[in-house]
Amino acid sequence: MTYHEVPESAYAALMAVLGPEGLSREEDARLAYGHDETEDLSYPPAVVARPLTTAQVAETVRICARHALPVTPIGGRTGLSGGALSVHGGVGLAVDRMNAIEAIDERNLQVVVQPGVITQVLQDAVAAAGLYYPPDPSSRGSCTIGGNIAENAGGPRAVKYGVTRDFVLNLEVVLPGGEVIWTGANTLKNATGYDLTRLVVGSEGTLGIITKAVLKLVPLPKETRLMLVPFASAERACEAVSATFRAGVTPSAMEFMERDAIAWTLRYTEGLPAQVTADPGAYLLIEVDGDHADAVMRDCETVLGVMEGHGAGEVLFAETSAEKDALWRMRRSVPVSVKAHSVYKEEDTVVPRFALPRLLAGVKEIGRRHGFTSVCYGHAGDGNLHVNIIKGDLPDAFWEQELPKAIREIFELTVSLGGTLSGEHGIGLVQRPYMDIAFSDVQIALMRGIKAAFDPQGIMNPGKVLP
Ligand code: LAC
Ligand code: ZN
Repeated sequence: MTYHEVPESAYAALMAVLGPEGLSREEDARLAYGHDETEDLSYPPAVVARPLTTAQVAETVRICARHALPVTPIGGRTGLSGGALSVHGGVGLAVDRMNAIEAIDERNLQVVVQPGVITQVLQDAVAAAGLYYPPDPSSRGSCTIGGNIAENAGGPRAVKYGVTRDFVLNLEVVLPGGEVIWTGANTLKNATGYDLTRLVVGSEGTLGIITKAVLKLVPLPKETRLMLVPFASAERACEAVSATFRAGVTPSAMEFMERDAIAWTLRYTEGLPAQVTADPGAYLLIEVDGDHADAVMRDCETVLGVMEGHGAGEVLFAETSAEKDALWRMRRSVPVSVKAHSVYKEEDTVVPRFALPRLLAGVKEIGRRHGFTSVCYGHAGDGNLHVNIIKGDLPDAFWEQELPKAIREIFELTVSLGGTLSGEHGIGLVQRPYMDIAFSDVQIALMRGIKAAFDPQGIMNPGKVLP
């Protein structure tokens, strides 16, 4: 991979636009903006640009275009596929200083945000107005809306409310030539031309830089009930998932954690009810929400009936908001706990939800055959299983040479079950070698054509998504 240094003339031009507050080539800054949460990867940009305005982003991109320098958009650096890594050097363009919530439109249930707004900050701000922005990745305390849009992030509430894409109405984008466009309109319906908004969402920073977003909101549900349901085996837990929806209930979260995920997380989570142990083979964490307590209770009873029918153990209902917080903290701590435990690789498999038990059983079988263990958890209601392959004491040679073959088998299984490579973490850098499993040459050529239409010079986040 060619690494692009930034020539003095380009650096001086960038400095004239961004000033010393907005531009750095110091080692500390380059290292800080050279990683996300993907494995232990580090790809520092040659310089870090931190613009404050759309005009500064556009001018920065124009300078890069003139000098044929790579530009890598950087959000909260919590990504799990390496989308924000400056693999070709050049300019790492971080939007973290563009972090204003510009307007909450309570009449239309919309919000206008800059890309560097932290997801949880947005959620709290709209909640104060009785409104709800549901997409909430585990990293919501540090991920940003721009990154969420670029990766089409999901999280636990997607099962009822949808993923980030379902909440994006309109985007301001700086294109790789430095032009500034809006992708659509601030409307709920739009049958006008090709849907550039949906195209940019999930394009992982390869088509342009999102500098503003108009997002849809919904009313904040008045009632939520949260329950933790233990199962003797992970397979049994997974089987109960699709049965719940068939019984007529769409929970607002339906999360799966297998035993090791819980065991490792317990060490890092305080304040959990004493009943939460790592004895069961797996848990489902199920949330039901709504506006009427009696309707929510009826849904909970339906869910309980399904769980009992699938051999669940004693269900723990969170009684207080402190208990709810503790259970959610446990769930949201799973990724960091796995990371603290061992080097690992994460696959973000997703299948139609009825196929989840077959996916899980298949992943374990592939692991036994190749000699690795995995810790699985994820958004069971979406059929979205995070497979964390644990390095532990495995030799480096196995990790580098054998494991990719096993990962290929996992993805082949996923696709054969009607699923695909990533539900919410994106392809980025690390899943690129597997794109041929999900797409034919014809499909890849179409994607390359779209990329070339936006970015003929190939400077916008090069080395990502396309094989
Ligand atoms: C989660 C992140 C890793 O589900 O997607 O916790
Ligand atoms: Zn997830």
